[in-house]
Amino acid sequence: MTFYQPVGNEIELFQAAADNGLPVLIKGPTGCGKTRFVRYMAEQLDRPVYTVACHDDLTAADLVGRHLIGPDGTYWQDGPLTRAVREGGICYLDEVVEARKDTTVVLHPLADDRRELPIERTGEVLQAAPGFMLVVSYNPGYQSLLKGMKPSTRQRFVSLRFDYPSEAAEQTIVAEEAGCDRDLARQLVSLASALRNLKDHDLEEAASTRLLIHTAMMIKAGLPPLDAVRAGMIEPLSDDEATVAALMEVVYAVFGRPGESR
Ligand SMILES: Nc1ncnc2c1ncn2[C@@H]1O[C@H](COP(=O)(O)OP(=O)(O)O)[C@@H](O)[C@H]1O
Ligand SMILES: [Mg+2]
Repeated sequence: MTFYQPVGNEIELFQAAADNGLPVLIKGPTGCGKTRFVRYMAEQLDRPVYTVACHDDLTAADLVGRHLIGPDGTYWQDGPLTRAVREGGICYLDEVVEARKDTTVVLHPLADDRRELPIERTGEVLQAAPGFMLVVSYNPGYQSLLKGMKPSTRQRFVSLRFDYPSEAAEQTIVAEEAGCDRDLARQLVSLASALRNLKDHDLEEAASTRLLIHTAMMIKAGLPPLDAVRAGMIEPLSDDEATVAALMEVVYAVFGRPGESR
């Protein structure tokens, strides 16, 4: 059973979309639970999930399938999208804006009420099985002006905006995922809040829940907290030494300076 801590009404929204065969788009910063949520919902709905990490070399054939050459000649192999369409599963395209537009065009007839997948190479047009659901996610923070999603694509999806959880929910997530005590979880979450509130550092992205979990795991493994926080939470945020030093000042305010115990 996958652990998932709800942060809003996302379960109800996803369920309603699933019941109505509507595709879902999840946007939110990295490490805030998008992938975990999809895995959890797939389990709840008892549907298989096919995950594709999108990148700019991804072709339509990577999604739909291709002819391969085997000992008995050529044969057709379904891609993850086609498999989900046939089996009534969930196809989850992570970081979908990374994929080229000509790749995502194959999604259009699946993402509206046609719910069909034309397979050009074989001439088939597949009607999606009842449980089929298209789920895509991306991080609006990374999105360059060139990328982004076309409105004609975006408007096909029920869209959920994810953000960092509330402090109470995040404490539960960190304690549960890292198996650490509540006090450490509370300390790390308040550090994360302080870091997220910094305005004058142009960090590409704020500290995610994922980083808190990593840090808690390393403290639990016996590392000195300041070392664990630096390696687990601060260095992953920036390569700039001055920025790291400034962020460490925030850490000292919560955990104490080296040699000083709290
Ligand atoms: N709401 C949540 N419930 C349970 N775990 C969560 C939640 N949000 C974040 N996590 C934890 O943070 C990690 C990163 O989340 P993930 O779903 O991979 O982020 P994303 O896909 O948004 O980048 C997960 O592996 C999980 O341990
Ligand atoms: Mg993810």
